[in-house]
Amino acid sequence: MTVERSADVSSAALGTQPRSVACQCRNASVDLGSRAGPRRILGDINFDLHEGEFVAILGRSGSGKTTLLRVLGGLVDPTPESVVTFHGRPVAGPPQDVVFVFQNYAASLLPWRTVHNNVALGLEGKVPVAVKRARISESLATVGLEARAADYPWQLSGGMQQRVQLARSLAMRPRGLLMDEPFGSLDAMTKASLQDQLQQVHQHTGATIAFVTHDIDEAVFLSDRILVLDGSPATIAHEIPVELPRPRDQLATKELPEFLRLRRQVYDAIVETGD
Ligand SMILES: Nc1ncnc2c1ncn2[C@@H]1O[C@H](COP(=O)(O)OP(=O)(O)OP(=O)(O)O)[C@@H](O)[C@H]1O
Ligand SMILES: [Mg+2]
Repeated sequence: MTVERSADVSSAALGTQPRSVACQCRNASVDLGSRAGPRRILGDINFDLHEGEFVAILGRSGSGKTTLLRVLGGLVDPTPESVVTFHGRPVAGPPQDVVFVFQNYAASLLPWRTVHNNVALGLEGKVPVAVKRARISESLATVGLEARAADYPWQLSGGMQQRVQLARSLAMRPRGLLMDEPFGSLDAMTKASLQDQLQQVHQHTGATIAFVTHDIDEAVFLSDRILVLDGSPATIAHEIPVELPRPRDQLATKELPEFLRLRRQVYDAIVETGD
């Protein structure tokens, strides 16, 4: 793994403190079935996610990003010698306080339930009714959809449906969010607005976020650190710290020389992985 330091911005200068480990991946490997038998997709993946950290995962199509998220979310079993923990406990099945956000929002919302009742899904039977109602209103307000609570998903635009999925995740108050290209299919303006909302949520909740994307600007804009997957089986080929000041602004941050430098660095890292 190549660990690349930021040019001249140290974490001490930005006042960031060392944080405790939320998620640990040690020698994590994954074998998945193919016609020719099991194939090693991920090999010896090693990294920690720190509590409250926002980590973006990049890599070419088919490099194993979704598979890695599925391992962290307990949806795919790694090989027996792998160690994957969340808050110190081995991941075996989906951890209680971790929520998955998928790219395909249409498939994740139930068309026969209203927006309100879709957001309620993860809370039913888990919290008292009054708490459930309060959390639903609050999370719909966070994504700017409180006025659409009584609508059905099919009455909303794609960007709004993705916001409903995000509201449902937020209502569950997760300590960890695993996001697989959540804004991949949205137009540029909706994407920017959701990035801003996600940034606010991250600041307010302190959730640990692993965010898969193909969009280099999005990765640099949102994250504290970028991991680039490459190889067959895939490992972490590059680890790039992003030490831009927060809160970040769609225009001002993206004009900073450090933003442009990081964007170039990540681009070069991904191009290099294709050699
Ligand atoms: N259920 C499965 N069974 C067998 N092989 C699989 C399965 N899921 C994924 N793979 C293989 O694992 C490799 C990594 O797939 P994965 O979906 O993790 O890639 P990705 O980096 O998320 O790609 P993309 O950017 O296109 O979403 C691919 O070669 C894929 O064919
Ligand atoms: Mg994928």
